Amino acid sequence: MTTNRWRLDGQLALVTGASAGIGLAIARELAGLGAHLLLVAREEDPLQEARDELAERHPQQDILALAADVADDEDRQAILDWAEDHGEGLHILVNNAGGNVTRAAVDYTEDEWRGIFESNVFSAFELSRYAHPLLARHAASSIVNVGSVSGITHVRSGVVYGMSKAALHQMTRNLAAEWAEDGIRVNAVAPWYIRTRRTSGPLSDPDYYEEVIARTPMGRIGEPEEVASAVAFLCLPAASYVTGECIAVDGGFLRYGF
Ligand SMILES: NC(=O)c1ccc[n+]([C@@H]2O[C@H](COP(=O)([O-])OP(=O)(O)OC[C@H]3O[C@@H](n4cnc5c(N)ncnc54)[C@H](OP(=O)(O)O)[C@@H]3O)[C@@H](O)[C@H]2O)c1
Repeated sequence: MTTNRWRLDGQLALVTGASAGIGLAIARELAGLGAHLLLVAREEDPLQEARDELAERHPQQDILALAADVADDEDRQAILDWAEDHGEGLHILVNNAGGNVTRAAVDYTEDEWRGIFESNVFSAFELSRYAHPLLARHAASSIVNVGSVSGITHVRSGVVYGMSKAALHQMTRNLAAEWAEDGIRVNAVAPWYIRTRRTSGPLSDPDYYEEVIARTPMGRIGEPEEVASAVAFLCLPAASYVTGECIAVDGGFLRYGF
């Protein structure tokens, strides 16, 4: 049977932060392309709701959920043990879960800045390393990391978030080079403002919203589905020669000097 290069039928994808926002949109997109899903988030109820919605829409596919915190190493190992128990390796890992606390650089407590790195970088690094043997079981598999324009230029999300996303982008490039021989492609996406619960606070201030829009050539913020489609592309066999890349999903923000 020839593989459909624009489908993920039968592939197993693990998506972190899959109960809301961008992660839920990614889960919906990958399921729509035929993937089986392993969904992770911390809070049980919204996660089960997401699982139930997807399982109802895709009754032929395995859609499973595990409540776990990617910032906790025991939980990370539990996530990978669970993935391993599910069957024959893993085709796709999407490191989407992440967090932030926005402050002036001098105001961060040590727990805060270390916590941001734990949830945004060390989570993805450790999950990727733990997943490596499962991903390497297949001739072609891939990792997609959800970075941010904050890892590329200054935005007002605080220095630590920017540092953590920049580290995630560089991890993407290094692992792409190191794991190409294992058949694992590693890519990232870098969204600008996307309509999710975490951005609803700042964007509810009309002056701030206008400023954001004025700096975005396309004149609007993005939708989670618009990030999900870029992530899905990177996972597809159609992207088989793309690795180490970071696709900005930003309405032109990064290309706009003035
Ligand atoms: N929205 C934007 O404008 C934007 C822009 C650039 C980059 N991003 C990145 O996109 C990713 C998703 O953001 P979002 O806006 O979609 O956020 P969101 O709407 O708040 O959703 C976050 C998801 O991740 C889960 N999560 C958070 N921390 C977790 C942890 N430690 N362990 C496991 N699950 C966790 C949440 O569920 P629980 O709370 O139940 O765990 C939820 O399912 C983040 O990495 C963020 O940095 C977002």
